[in-house]
Amino acid sequence: MESKRESKADKLAELARRRGFFWQALEIYGGVGGFVSFGELGVKLKDKTIRLWRDYFIHRHNFTEVDTPLISPYVVFEASGHVGSFKDPMAECSKCHKKFRADHLLMEYNRQISEGMSIEDTEREINKGDVKCPDCGNTKWSVRHFLTMFETTIGPYSESEGFMRPETAQGIFTEFKRIYEISRGKMPLGVAQIGKAFRNEISPRQGVIRLREFSMMEIELFFDPLNPKCPLLNQVENEELRILPEDLVEKGIEEPLIISVKDALSKGIIKQEWLAYFMVLSKKFAIKLGIPEDKQRFHAKLPSERAHYSAQTYDHEVLLDKFGWVEVAGHAYRTDYDLSSHMKKSSVDLSVSVQLEEPIKVKHLKMNINSKKIKEIFPDKFNDLMKRLKEMSPEDAKREIDNSGAIVVEGLKLPKEAIEFVDVEEEVKVRRFIPHVVEPSFGIERLVYATLEHAYSEKEDRAILRIPPYLAPVQAAVFPLVSKDKLQEKSVAVWEDLRRRGIDAIYDDSGSIGRRYARADEIGVPFAITIDYQTLDDDTVTIRDRDTWKQKRLTIKDLPDHLLGLLRPSDP
Ligand code: ATP
Ligand code: GLY
Repeated sequence: MESKRESKADKLAELARRRGFFWQALEIYGGVGGFVSFGELGVKLKDKTIRLWRDYFIHRHNFTEVDTPLISPYVVFEASGHVGSFKDPMAECSKCHKKFRADHLLMEYNRQISEGMSIEDTEREINKGDVKCPDCGNTKWSVRHFLTMFETTIGPYSESEGFMRPETAQGIFTEFKRIYEISRGKMPLGVAQIGKAFRNEISPRQGVIRLREFSMMEIELFFDPLNPKCPLLNQVENEELRILPEDLVEKGIEEPLIISVKDALSKGIIKQEWLAYFMVLSKKFAIKLGIPEDKQRFHAKLPSERAHYSAQTYDHEVLLDKFGWVEVAGHAYRTDYDLSSHMKKSSVDLSVSVQLEEPIKVKHLKMNINSKKIKEIFPDKFNDLMKRLKEMSPEDAKREIDNSGAIVVEGLKLPKEAIEFVDVEEEVKVRRFIPHVVEPSFGIERLVYATLEHAYSEKEDRAILRIPPYLAPVQAAVFPLVSKDKLQEKSVAVWEDLRRRGIDAIYDDSGSIGRRYARADEIGVPFAITIDYQTLDDDTVTIRDRDTWKQKRLTIKDLPDHLLGLLRPSDP
């Protein structure tokens, strides 16, 4: 059983390499873990996956899309919390000094561990004597944290430290102010970004599943926390999801609960309507990639396992042959964590406002600055101090004074008498708030791999990739039955016509027709068109279906429209 299961992934890896979907990069230098290169077929499959995603997630909602830098200065990731938290537990073998992801090693030994386990507990667990170094077999380990962002410097200044982005999301947060202005104050506002991300994974050993450089498709959906309803929920509320909520995860249960979106929301299993909406879309999108619903589940992250910014996270997992349940997308409720953090760090107001129909009374904290006192204590620094104090949030200032009896501004300690705090009530027609965020975040290479693995099948000892036609890297193959008697000329004309109509078609006249069908099946070409002697008489061709191997005849004139119909994804 095990060897059969393993062989599918291995056969797929061999096919992917030989036919040019993808392979380990830098082969001439022995290969470097965590980096892959994509060939023409892989590039096309990725491209079509992205197009389908754009259609599913961006176009139908009128969301906007941005493209922000891959590198940002230290301060961005300090503010976002990544410098402090984007770390993985690293185990170092005490004998050969090879380094591995401690939690992954423990999982290989079927140990119950959680992502949030402390370094001390991890070290104790891994040193119980059975966990062997995959390289030298030693069982003594030391464990510490490793920052998984790639560090760099910006320009010729070594002190100007920066990082390659580990997620595209931060670019959306840092550019939020401008994006919001360009969108003319739209709320809720969906902003998408598709692009590369970089994570210096400790010891990636899972091919295309765990890369150091990979591609993400992310949406940050900004909404008013006092108006958190998703207006599209009625379209999905009766859909069922296969969910492993936190309580099942805590009990170590693997079998998901099948529950409607409506019930999951009312029971608090999913905390936010937008989160539920995107989870359904995510499920449907994966089905469109050819991953059946019963091979999918949404796995809750426990509080100790969640990213530092998240109030609730569901990993969308799909079942793979060799790797088991693998996360292809993360759905997180990021609250106002990121915008608030960047607002604090940059001192730029990232709040937004909504015009109210009726004025409302709001209570807020006001800071009365005793300028006389400040001038008295720090006459030379008076202007600077006043400027900085006016930029501070009264809540932050009060917290600091309550905690320490003073407030430090520009390195100077102001006594609590310098500021008075009062609760005031005001009538306002405009309400200001920091938007909350729900984020669906997809990894393209994992999706592409899952598509290929679920498409892989064998018939009569031959590999067939049953990739859905709308995703197939090559959509049609045109073959002359034999390479003579004007069949070639006619075939080239048909091929060129299909390409002019926007169909991704190839022409192949080498080897027997059986070999050519086999070569096309192996890369997932859904339709093969053969030009034979009858074509020369009546302008008809045969069209062969990859999955049924059935053939039918139709006229060359009707062929492009017929194919385009077959290649269009059905709704939704
Ligand atoms: P994992 O637990 O597998 O490391 P993660 O929780 O770190 O994943 P997220 O931070 O939620 O992943 O990233 C969002 C998505 O990006 C994931 O669902 C996955 O599809 C993709 N992704 C993350 N890390 C990698 C990687 N090293 N290689 C390829 N894809 C990745
Ligand atoms: N943006 C989601 C993540 O990096 O986890």
